[in-house]
Amino acid sequence: MTRPRLVGLSANVQRPSKTRTLVETIVREAGARGAVEARVFDFVDAGPGLGAAWTRDQLPLPARRLIEAIEAADGLVVGSPVYKGSYTGLFKHLFDLVDPQALAGKPVAIAATGGGPRHALVVEHSFRPLFGFFGALQVPVSVYASDAEFTDGALTDGGVRERAALAGGFLADLLAHRASTAAPAALAAAR
Ligand SMILES: Cc1cc2nc3c(=O)[nH]c(=O)nc-3n(C[C@H](O)[C@H](O)[C@H](O)COP(=O)(O)O)c2cc1C
Repeated sequence: MTRPRLVGLSANVQRPSKTRTLVETIVREAGARGAVEARVFDFVDAGPGLGAAWTRDQLPLPARRLIEAIEAADGLVVGSPVYKGSYTGLFKHLFDLVDPQALAGKPVAIAATGGGPRHALVVEHSFRPLFGFFGALQVPVSVYASDAEFTDGALTDGGVRERAALAGGFLADLLAHRASTAAPAALAAAR
């Protein structure tokens, strides 16, 4: 049996990155719960041409490959740093270029990092409507981490690590369930 393809996308534009660390943690937790073929990308992988492309055919190859990987995935872990109280503009720009049918019924776990705790609900108020638009099957536990929850770049806060494990666990279960049902294809066709 082939393993479900899990793609992690972190919207950081520089490394090291707290967001990438958080996304990698959730991907790892999903892999610990069930066998997955996992890949993690960030915007450093996509390159600066992503922001300059107004249409899909203007995308340079690395950014196009990233979008194709997202569309071909069976499930996603998406994360963004909080910029000005929301996901970054580049994060939204990337998803503006994703086929609107491509994520229908697919499990998606949501993560964000911010400087402090003030914008913790960004995961509920900004991310969920976007992935609702796509008809994605959103993991009920989203994960937010602020600067204080990292030590020397490592995610050290017990509570956030617990939420990451919960989110990864849900994601793995949903991926396994999805493999045994035709519902996502039917949903995509109905949209
Ligand atoms: C342009 C910009 C805007 C930011 N706006 C916010 C904000 O509104 N709220 C917040 O909590 N942190 C804000 N931050 C801090 C980042 O969200 C935070 O440092 C994040 O964890 C960085 O993630 P990274 O290490 O993956 O790049 C902002 C940072 C930048 C560069």
